[in-house]
Amino acid sequence: MNKWFYLNLALLITAIWQLVKRSYFHSISLFLWLGFIGLLLFLFNWTRHAVFSTIRNAPRRKTKIKFANISKKALPYHKWSGTAALLLILCHAIWIMNKYGILLDYPKMFIGILAGLTLIIQVSTGWLRQYWPSGLKRKVHLYGGMLLFFLIFVHIIL
Ligand code: HEM
Ligand code: HEM
Repeated sequence: MNKWFYLNLALLITAIWQLVKRSYFHSISLFLWLGFIGLLLFLFNWTRHAVFSTIRNAPRRKTKIKFANISKKALPYHKWSGTAALLLILCHAIWIMNKYGILLDYPKMFIGILAGLTLIIQVSTGWLRQYWPSGLKRKVHLYGGMLLFFLIFVHIIL
């Protein structure tokens, strides 16, 4: 198994843990659920990287074919799940900023805003590479996903 499968699972478990902790004190509001569903959609798309890395590094041909088939099945949904993640996260952010204001010295919000901006770049480079592919767009889309992963991790543990 590629290390990204474990890292993605760790992010998912951390987010569930934060929500479970919160639910002890108060009910979880809709805007936090929007953040969580956005996270699930992000993870669905980012797992594409784990699948591609597995295909590249697998020593056995059978494993390569199995993962290539999984990747082919997920491809038609990729653009829609990524775009839906952005729409849900925008609702999550607008709702929160309406409630608390824009607090740049509140680390959870500051990192959240950085993650939101990176997600906008990620989805834009996705649509751009869909119609006008280039090596640069591929790189920005790949490293953008990686940066997004770490920003979301920090956003959730803070
Ligand atoms: C890819 C982007 C994002 C994801 C996946 C995401 C996900 C989440 C999740 C799952 C939670 C609940 C768990 C927890 O509190 O740790 C949360 C909380 C929060 N998010 Fe985000 N978020 C994102 C972007 C943003 C943005 C752009 C903002 C800007 C306003 C933001 C502000 C917050 C705040 C302030 C909380 C805590 C709310 C509270 O304490 O009541 N998030 N986020
Ligand atoms: C949460 C947002 C997204 C994430 C995390 C994400 C992540 C990824 C990853 C990891 C890859 C494989 C990278 C590689 O090695 O080339 C990829 C490929 C691709 N993405 Fe995205 N993506 C997102 C949104 C989008 C959107 C909205 C589109 C819109 C069309 C898009 C279009 C593409 C295309 C055309 C490819 C190449 C096709 C292929 O994989 O064979 N992505 N994306």
